[in-house]
Amino acid sequence: MQTELSTTLGVEHAVFGFTPFPAVAAAITRAGGFGVLGAVRYTAPDELARDLDWMEAHTEGLPYGLDVVMPARKVEGVTEAEVEAMIPEGHRRYAARILAEHDVPPLPEGEVSGWRITGWMEEIARGQLDVAFDHPIKLLANALGSPPPDVVARAHDRGIRVAALAGSPRHARHHRDAGIDIVVAQGYEAGGHTGEIATMVLTPEVVAAVDPLPVLAAGGIGTGEQIAAGLALGAQGVWLGSLWLTTEEAELHSRRLTAKLLAAGPGDTVRSRALTGKPARQLRTAWTDAWDAADGPGTLPMPLQGLLVAEANSRIQRHEVEPLLGTPVGQIVGRMNSERSVQAVFDDLTRGFEKAVDRINRIAGRA
Ligand SMILES: Cc1cc2nc3c(=O)[nH]c(=O)nc-3n(C[C@H](O)[C@H](O)[C@H](O)COP(=O)(O)O)c2cc1C
Repeated sequence: MQTELSTTLGVEHAVFGFTPFPAVAAAITRAGGFGVLGAVRYTAPDELARDLDWMEAHTEGLPYGLDVVMPARKVEGVTEAEVEAMIPEGHRRYAARILAEHDVPPLPEGEVSGWRITGWMEEIARGQLDVAFDHPIKLLANALGSPPPDVVARAHDRGIRVAALAGSPRHARHHRDAGIDIVVAQGYEAGGHTGEIATMVLTPEVVAAVDPLPVLAAGGIGTGEQIAAGLALGAQGVWLGSLWLTTEEAELHSRRLTAKLLAAGPGDTVRSRALTGKPARQLRTAWTDAWDAADGPGTLPMPLQGLLVAEANSRIQRHEVEPLLGTPVGQIVGRMNSERSVQAVFDDLTRGFEKAVDRINRIAGRA
């Protein structure tokens, strides 16, 4: 699974893997792909530094990257406490009511919410970048918009390529104009923040919009056949996020959540604003239903919704409250039916890709 881009980057397979877990990111890189560690959950720079040091020690000199979340619209010059104060009381009461209805206990004494999604406040993302630029990362990706010009310049000065996710050709052109090197075309079926255009339609549109910039196809890719499809549509590689959640190296810390993922079908996700205030695909749960309900207060804009639900999510995860327990995940969850090592996943991807190529060659009369 080699393309011009994978050759330039020095990886065996043009398969990029996004994951919040360092052990998974390192395993993806060791398996011949390009592991990208998600930074959003790190609020303390020294924790990120420690995990990046660990990745360096476990990737055998092979390339890997970091993904930060810097929203296009910045939250600047305000403290987290000031942002918290903007959350309406009615929304707080509604969150408390859902938790009470499901008997969700508080966090144990002295345990603080480890699930604060504040990484997308400019100040915190910038702290993460300072750490990242001190480490030998080869790729910096940004989830929500083009990174600011000074960040792109700092990355380029250090020989780091910059990638950004795009949900439409318009986003993609914006990234190109901002000096981004690689555009990730993130389709509707993907886990996490998504636009409204499916990968099958989006990929060739983005390829045409930013030509000759390399494009990675993302969203709904979990088999080698789907990788072949993405490359056939003009992508120079693929970017996978959901598939790694049920690998043996993933540290979900919840057997119940893993079981839910393994049991879920392709129709068991929803694109909801419940998690962050922006549409993000995730497992459909009683929690997402409550926030999406017509008779509820609805969700708040980013970053308020993320702050509103952070502690609740920690409590739900800590106590593994089944009906409310969820995670960002894409429609490919329907194919995530067994726990395997990252290497075993790569072996399957390679086999599926070869099968797809053979099949197309036969159809084209070449074999
Ligand atoms: C659990 C999870 C968390 C994610 N968090 C982020 C994130 O912080 N930053 C980001 O750029 N993308 C994030 N994504 C999206 C992935 O980078 C990737 O684009 C997406 O998962 C690809 O589609 P797929 O889920 O169908 O593989 C997340 C995806 C998942 C499943």
